[in-house]
Amino acid sequence: MKVLLLPGDCIGPELTRQARRVLEHLAPDVELEERVFGAAAIRATATPLPDDTLEAAVAADAVLKGPVGDPEFDAAEVRPEQGLLGLRKALDVYANLRPARAPGTDLLIVRELVGGLYFGAKGTRPDGTVYDTCEYHPDQIERIARRAFTYARTRRRSLVSVDKANVMETSRLWRRVVDRLAPEYPDVTVEHMLVDNAAMQLVRAPERFDVIVTENTFGDILSDIAAEVTGGLGLAGSASLGDGGPGMFEPVHGSAPDIAGRGIANPTGMLRSTALLLEHGLGRPEEAAALEAAVDEAMATAPTQDLGGTATTAAFGDAVLAAL
Ligand code: NAD
Ligand code: IPM
Ligand code: MN
Repeated sequence: MKVLLLPGDCIGPELTRQARRVLEHLAPDVELEERVFGAAAIRATATPLPDDTLEAAVAADAVLKGPVGDPEFDAAEVRPEQGLLGLRKALDVYANLRPARAPGTDLLIVRELVGGLYFGAKGTRPDGTVYDTCEYHPDQIERIARRAFTYARTRRRSLVSVDKANVMETSRLWRRVVDRLAPEYPDVTVEHMLVDNAAMQLVRAPERFDVIVTENTFGDILSDIAAEVTGGLGLAGSASLGDGGPGMFEPVHGSAPDIAGRGIANPTGMLRSTALLLEHGLGRPEEAAALEAAVDEAMATAPTQDLGGTATTAAFGDAVLAAL
């Protein structure tokens, strides 16, 4: 089997180094390849997603990606984030699973990843108006909703569908589709919740949630909140899955330019993404569980600065390997 590593930008390579050590230890038979992506790829090839990188991703069994984004390109025409959206779209990894766990809380955000506000028509009108549009076809909603119902069945059988149906047409369609499917999953309880309320409820009582399913942009925002209320943004990993084809695994957080190059970033989100890769990408649930447990142990024995400790990124990696 083959895993493609895309180290990404700023803290990305620092985190990827630890993920590579762990994969070499837990899955020594798996071939690890690496390609440039994001700002590093713009510098080398003038595009954030070179053809060669995309081809390697399509040919891999799974892709492990560090965060991309660099302040140098924030105002540029060609930006690292365009490569990320392009790769998600090309792999059609529409189901982005963003788990968040803490004592008393165990929730899963199922974020639609290749539609909605990020991918609708955008442009500039002659009068200078700039627009992004939120668009969904019912089939796009159906496939992500079915995923969420299915995950809820394996958990506490509670699904909260988050939208802005009091304002948006796409949200009203979202509700109709979820309601149409609900009778096929009679063992799952469905609740609709407006996104502003959902943000508040996540801060106030995250333990009340089991599975949340929502639109791309809403899921982006809610998953940062869910990460922070369950221990910190640096802790959250994610899996992006399609129907067949390689999955992509990446932390929820960004490239953290404010702490890049200092060796202090917390690799937990990246290593939890690696555990998700072992489970969903390579079908190795035992290795995934071992890595999850080793990361929990390292958080206690070698906490990084964001957790109030002093361990470096590499020392955290050492602690994970020692625990394994
Ligand atoms: P960010 O998530 O990079 O950082 C927010 C805050 O959290 C910062 O203070 C940062 O230091 C801290 N933080 C994040 N990850 C951490 C970790 N592992 N350990 C310790 N602290 C951590 O968000 P931002 O600053 O808004 O974005 C920076 C760049 O990242 C932007 O270019 C953005 O587009 C990009 N980004 C990329 C991804 C991705 O590739 N999936 C995700 C989010 C943001
Ligand atoms: C994330 C990030 C990306 C997103 C950006 C960098 C395009 O914030 O993965 O959460 O919004 O999807
Ligand atoms: Mn985000």
